[in-house]
Amino acid sequence: MCKRFISLILTAALVLSLGLCACGKSEETTKKKKKVKKTTKTEVIDTDETDDTDIPGDPSDPSDPTDKTDPTDDPFAQPDPTDPLDGGNGQKVGISMPTKLLRRWDEDGKNLKRQLEEDGYTVDLQYADNDVSIQNSQIESMINSGCKVLVIAPIDGFSLGNVVEEAQAANIPVIAYDRLIWDTEGVTYYASFDNYMAGLIQGEYIRQNLDLDYSDGPYNLEIFAGDPGDFNAVFFYSGAMDVLRPYIDSGKLVVRSGQVDFQDVATSAWRTEDAQNRMDAIISSFYSDGAVLDAVLCSNDSTALGVTNSLEAMYVGNYPVITGQDCDLANMKNILNGKQSMSVFKDTRSLVDRTVLMVEQILTGAEVEINDTSTYNNGVINVPSFLVAPIFADKNNYKEVLIDSGYYTEDQLS
Ligand code: BGC
Repeated sequence: MCKRFISLILTAALVLSLGLCACGKSEETTKKKKKVKKTTKTEVIDTDETDDTDIPGDPSDPSDPTDKTDPTDDPFAQPDPTDPLDGGNGQKVGISMPTKLLRRWDEDGKNLKRQLEEDGYTVDLQYADNDVSIQNSQIESMINSGCKVLVIAPIDGFSLGNVVEEAQAANIPVIAYDRLIWDTEGVTYYASFDNYMAGLIQGEYIRQNLDLDYSDGPYNLEIFAGDPGDFNAVFFYSGAMDVLRPYIDSGKLVVRSGQVDFQDVATSAWRTEDAQNRMDAIISSFYSDGAVLDAVLCSNDSTALGVTNSLEAMYVGNYPVITGQDCDLANMKNILNGKQSMSVFKDTRSLVDRTVLMVEQILTGAEVEINDTSTYNNGVINVPSFLVAPIFADKNNYKEVLIDSGYYTEDQLS
């Protein structure tokens, strides 16, 4: 783990130097399938678009790279005989997801399956109960049962090298879904959100809400990152810290706990309870004297939930600016109740659309669109990637972002 962690940090250093390019990439409005040109090459889409003065991912800013999904997908649609990519003909696609317990993976799996089946593919969808050995054997059975493409969201991106190399030996392309698969040539494409940008959005949100450039400060900040075995966590942390670290260095932001480095702020398995316990300890040691906590950078919603639970029980001041990610229901309710400030919205429907398109492009021999060739080196190869741009939701824009887009109903949030 230690060696792995060091290699993560080294790669993170590389990411930092590339990050600003990565954060400028965005997906244009999800491409409709019929617009895809047929060639045999991989196409890199240049979608560079930067605007340094605003919080990136602000859906109310027309110049911001937002990724709007077409929520009008008809769940009962049949394969369209005039669409060259709807040519599934029963070809089998294997989908391996980490767990059903987290809403997003459950939805991701179901939506991928539904859309691929609508396009005429047969789908073997398996959830691995967050158990690495189960995931390995499920993937092996997908290889042996004739799957033509595998879509894999790894539980642990470092433990699938052998099995994806078996797929490679059997000429089965592998799409790493959301999380990268490391240390192997067996991964063919990566479909994910722009993880660095997700962190950048969180850092910018704190910068603007504390008005760090125009107010005197200092302000107290605490930091909660994700699981050290999930490299996405390093990207989130890097993006946010690229915004916040200069203010920490100048003293405008003060981390009273002194816990700033990734290994000190990581949250094992993204566990809510672990974040809550750490926040409890920080409040007892550093904020029980009445010191004001102004902001908490939380990399995702499960860590944010732990932090708000702890604040609710132990902290007497107002809720600080708290970031999150995933727009989980409990966190959206907290946002509406003023306990959490924002959550990065990764519209998993966009990632599903993109992944379905990739599968279809691979299986029909069409050009596979990517928009990034250099950010995700998995230790062995640069994995051709399509990175979908995230946006953020807060109490001001949640209606437009989450309800109008059909992601949630008003009832679910009340
Ligand atoms: C995903 C996040 C999620 C976290 C915990 C990460 O790999 O990118 O969206 O919050 O895992 O499941």
